[in-house]
Amino acid sequence: MERDLKTLISKMTLEEKASLCSGASFWYTKPVERLGIPAVMMTDGPHGLRKQVDESDHLGLNESVVAVCFPAACATASSFDTELMTKLGETLGNECQAENISILLGPAVNIKRSPLCGRNFEYMSEDPYLTGKMAAAYIRGVQSQNVGTSIKHFAANNQEFNRMSCSSEVSERALREIYLPGFEEAVKASQPKTIMCSYNKINGTYASENEWLLNKVLRDDWGFKGYVVTDWSAVADRVKGIKAGLDLEMPSSNGVNDAKIVAAVKDGTLDEKILDRTVERLLTVLYSYVDNRNPDAVFDRSADHEKAVDMAAECAVLLENNGVLPLKKDTKVAYIGSFAAVPRYQGGGSSHINPSKVTSALETAQAKNREITYVPAFSTEKDELLENGLENAVAAAKNAEVAVIFAGLPDSFESEGYDRKHMNLPKVQDKLIEAVAAVQPNTIVVLHNGSPVECPWAERVAAILEMYLGGQGVGEACDRLLWGECNPCGRLAETFPLRIQDTPSYLNFPGDGKKVHYAEGVYVGYRYYDSREMPVRWAFGHGLSYTKFEYSNLVLSANTMDDASKLTISVDVTNSGAVAGKEVVQLYVRDLNGTEGRPYKELKGFRKVALKPGETKTVSMEITARDLSYWVEELGDWYAPSGNYAVLVGHASDDIRLTAEVQFTTTKLLPLVVSMSTTFGELLKDPRTAPVMQQMMAKMGQGAVGAMMGSEDPSARAMAEAMLAGLPLKALVSFGAANPEQIEGLINTLNSVIA
Ligand code: BGC
Repeated sequence: MERDLKTLISKMTLEEKASLCSGASFWYTKPVERLGIPAVMMTDGPHGLRKQVDESDHLGLNESVVAVCFPAACATASSFDTELMTKLGETLGNECQAENISILLGPAVNIKRSPLCGRNFEYMSEDPYLTGKMAAAYIRGVQSQNVGTSIKHFAANNQEFNRMSCSSEVSERALREIYLPGFEEAVKASQPKTIMCSYNKINGTYASENEWLLNKVLRDDWGFKGYVVTDWSAVADRVKGIKAGLDLEMPSSNGVNDAKIVAAVKDGTLDEKILDRTVERLLTVLYSYVDNRNPDAVFDRSADHEKAVDMAAECAVLLENNGVLPLKKDTKVAYIGSFAAVPRYQGGGSSHINPSKVTSALETAQAKNREITYVPAFSTEKDELLENGLENAVAAAKNAEVAVIFAGLPDSFESEGYDRKHMNLPKVQDKLIEAVAAVQPNTIVVLHNGSPVECPWAERVAAILEMYLGGQGVGEACDRLLWGECNPCGRLAETFPLRIQDTPSYLNFPGDGKKVHYAEGVYVGYRYYDSREMPVRWAFGHGLSYTKFEYSNLVLSANTMDDASKLTISVDVTNSGAVAGKEVVQLYVRDLNGTEGRPYKELKGFRKVALKPGETKTVSMEITARDLSYWVEELGDWYAPSGNYAVLVGHASDDIRLTAEVQFTTTKLLPLVVSMSTTFGELLKDPRTAPVMQQMMAKMGQGAVGAMMGSEDPSARAMAEAMLAGLPLKALVSFGAANPEQIEGLINTLNSVIA
């Protein structure tokens, strides 16, 4: 139904319009009964429904309706599977229709700047490309059910410490390349109905009143059509906010801020047209739900539980395996650690779900009559052994053929609202793993955690399976993976560093509480470790399988590219092992032109492909000039210098199997204003000024550097070139090669060829 919203808005009083700009209560918008405008409900998100009917809060404290807890984003991102994300979205969208929820508050896509951010379990990755593709797929799924999404938290909310007031001090380049592209891709590809601005400031301005962020970048640059909602209570100056592009305040200000909007329109400090524009956005989204209700939707909790199990199995990452996995039928196995019976499957805070059912690995194994013994050994809640925990664990391990230790982080170690202080497992668990591994060579560690932990024992165990916070079906999924009913196919969406001290933000996280300096710039995650050639525990993109994959036949659709072209990259992948499996083909791009300040390589494509034993499939991916580019602040645009770029294809960021090169030509030119300080290097590199400089140099000819430049000896020539590159024009005076007037003349000529 096409609604005439402009006419509807023209019938509204100023007060009615202002009233729509904030919520009625924790989860509801306000109705305008006189005009038949209904109130609608929204709910957290992102990996299940937290619909609170009675006591409301935004910290996950009070009980919500029974729902299904799907794997958290730390896990789903590791699936590298956009179809899985869409399926998850469709399922959640249908659940929302059944529960009459108009907007699901997710996905959460902040970049994992440090492994210590308490909320990383809810976020996807350290990589913006992966984040964007996965978020767009999730949004596509939810919104296919005519339910809106609210991608959050926009932007640069990469820690919990003082999240409501701290200023993220970050360069525009790092924002554009690292912290914003996840949102950008989601907006451009899937148009989320709403976007949730974050609590924090960005370079001194609250996100909720950041004109540059909300109007310029989000709307003008990316074409966002929906409305911007605050994170819960993120309003600072309401009138400033509405002018900056903030539409809805949640949950409510009890009328205080609505009155400020009314007063500002009356005294002329707020143009009523701006308010009308906001109201139109709010009503457009509201009616896109109201007019498309699905009265037949059913929340089938048992069917959705099965989906949650299947998804958890697709997300888990096999980090190490010396061949002990999968377990063979009838093997005598000791399950050690309370997480076997009480899995940790979700994180604390606003995403906390009241699950319909939770299955543990232990009960699943018992139901399948597997040959297991069980020793709880340690607490799931504290850094504490249970009585005789260590001794019993060691004895059980000795008596079995294999020991599986179910390790993980207690709830209190990571949550929304605060950051982790360290990257360790509870000490007793590290100690127990060492002790068990010392007596049982076939020791397997299963991890339940929302972000990386240091694993000092990694080289002394036979296998490690990362289940992450896998949702309510994590135990069943774990059973299937351990016993070979499923083949692990997740890949790490984040690096596991060896130690927290190795992380790029180590010296600048979480700041002094007022400001946090993103001093590492674009060197986040593998971009940093790769560029510094640092060893890590497990690299971005890593993940093992019970089968093997071979790569061959890397083909580029052309050897050259320009600003307008699309390059298709195809590669053959073969399952050369004995069981069916899924490979995640990863594509990275690398600037080979020595451009200053570029990470060693960056992910620009991935594809998950299922292969039967012996089967080969051709996988194709596409890149454009944007994929080769970095953000140049002076240009206010993406830019890649003309030159050569490597295309790297492989199994993980540290396991590149095939490479090729493409030659790129651009017509974009970097801004250049020539002055006495401009160097020969800059002028010789720029196609506009290079001919003038070459002519000038030919005329000047000799001198020591000139002689070296003309030398037969390549190292003398290289020395001369290097010396010349750093020479500013003013140096010509001190070298007696030209007088100041001649240089002024040269500068004028150079500036005129640029203009
Ligand atoms: C969180 C949001 C959440 C909101 C409502 C806030 O504290 O940061 O992610 O959607 O509460 O619960």
